[in-house]
Amino acid sequence: MNQKESSKQRLIIVSNRLPIVLSKDAGGNWQIKPGSGGLVTALAPVLKNRGGLWIGWPGSSIDEEDIDLEELLKDATQDYGYTFKPVPVTEDEEEKYYYGFSNQILWPLFHDFQTRCHFSPDYWEVYQHVNQKFAKVIAQNIGDEDDHIWVHDYQLIGVGHALRNLGITSKIGFFMHIPFPQLDIFLKLPWRFEILNQLLSYDLIGFQTQRDKRNFVQCVQAMSKDVKIRGRGRVLSTTVNDRKVRIGNFPISIDFEEFAQKAKSKEVEKRLAEIKEIYKTRHLVLGVDRLDYTKGIPDRLRAFRNALQRYPDLHTKISLVQIVVPSRVNIPEYNDLKQEIEQLVSEINGEFTQPGWIPIHYAFYSIDRTELIAFYRAADIAFVTPLKDGMNLIAKEYCAANIYKDGVLILSEFAGTAGQFNKHALLVNPYDIEMTAEKLYQACQMKVGERKKRMQALRRITKKTDIYWWVDSFLSAVFAYNLKDFSELTDYIPTSKITDYHELSGKSGASV
Ligand code: UDP
Ligand code: G6P
Repeated sequence: MNQKESSKQRLIIVSNRLPIVLSKDAGGNWQIKPGSGGLVTALAPVLKNRGGLWIGWPGSSIDEEDIDLEELLKDATQDYGYTFKPVPVTEDEEEKYYYGFSNQILWPLFHDFQTRCHFSPDYWEVYQHVNQKFAKVIAQNIGDEDDHIWVHDYQLIGVGHALRNLGITSKIGFFMHIPFPQLDIFLKLPWRFEILNQLLSYDLIGFQTQRDKRNFVQCVQAMSKDVKIRGRGRVLSTTVNDRKVRIGNFPISIDFEEFAQKAKSKEVEKRLAEIKEIYKTRHLVLGVDRLDYTKGIPDRLRAFRNALQRYPDLHTKISLVQIVVPSRVNIPEYNDLKQEIEQLVSEINGEFTQPGWIPIHYAFYSIDRTELIAFYRAADIAFVTPLKDGMNLIAKEYCAANIYKDGVLILSEFAGTAGQFNKHALLVNPYDIEMTAEKLYQACQMKVGERKKRMQALRRITKKTDIYWWVDSFLSAVFAYNLKDFSELTDYIPTSKITDYHELSGKSGASV
């Protein structure tokens, strides 16, 4: 199959979330709002551009008897230019599949926060059940064998396996948007063999970075003596039950042009002027994150405080705007984090505020695209310091919106983005408060020539590897055309075999 033929085929995106969220207003009427988070931002332009079908959960638990979901989503389908197929999730499923297995087991474990995991067996059962439910909806909606089925993220690892059990033989790709952990962390998962087995049911398993791919390869090699992974380039391969399985890394991105164009628009210019009127300090620093312990917001605030303590010349000259977007509010850890952030903001402001100057401006709500891009443009420095992140699109969006090319990006070493941006961003270890404070000071001192040189390079990389490049890279790997595209890229593959864990694979892992 060549690329031209492939682009004619229908793309079926399957993700936990649809790009919209249904919720009831005060009068009990259903409302449709845009969803938040990197997965939705990245994938929405892809389907808008190609058309197709998006299968997912509309974001609130729904009693199917009460509401005709298809009818409700009909108008949205017309507005967005592609079709939505909702998968209803009950309240109990939301609790155990979404808040439970997905966000209190896989999310913390895969981000190296093993102590935040709640390994409840109930969660696993319901996770399997909901993944099977998704598979049934896909099976009912696929056309011919050539539809591209593309399943996304940790909430839906079992969908491919469930589709195979339903007799679906089409090619199925899977992309993991979050990191994949190292072997010693992955081994803590009570369902480690089942999860690896299910991942190996796909034709292509895509990860964000080489680090994630390497971790996955190490887990497979250590936990199953039967599966041998071959290759050295970006896309590796193996054979499982006589089926070829590919494993690759593809850094996700954004629609660079859309952000860059919008950054020049009249509405952004207008809002930018208003923002500049409000924040008159010389250095405007911006943080934008979902409320999540992986984002390192408290450590960032401590680094900001450390900078104010060590560099008094910053007083009255620097302001941090920290926007926190509400997320996963039913999980107690997320609420505790909110308290911690608010406590820190109030302590720091209490200690340093002077007449006419408040060091930190904090918002706990989501903002629309115009507002977000106006803030990207207004910010002299983007402060992107997650403790661990699959990619981090805020960093890429900041660069795309930086049309005057003079902003500075401070970036965590532990964001997937660091793999692409390491030479041109100011990299920090977010756990190192003093180092982060020093880099913030360095960013404030940086001369315009150096700022421009770095930002131009960051924009060039973001533009070259935009979301359309990502889609083409992934689809060309899953359908095995044009593989030479990847041959020039080097990769690290472990050369020594790890055998210690083979014994463990006896019961459920031998067939991986
Ligand atoms: N974003 C959003 N609503 C907001 C602020 C930001 O949807 O109020 C978007 C932002 O444009 C970005 C995404 O949220 O695309 C955050 O993506 P990232 O990869 O940084 O982190 P994630 O939230 O997916 O973990
Ligand atoms: C990350 C995950 C996505 C998720 C998003 C927002 O980007 O990789 O799968 O959709 O966060 O989180 P939420 O739980 O609100 O869907």
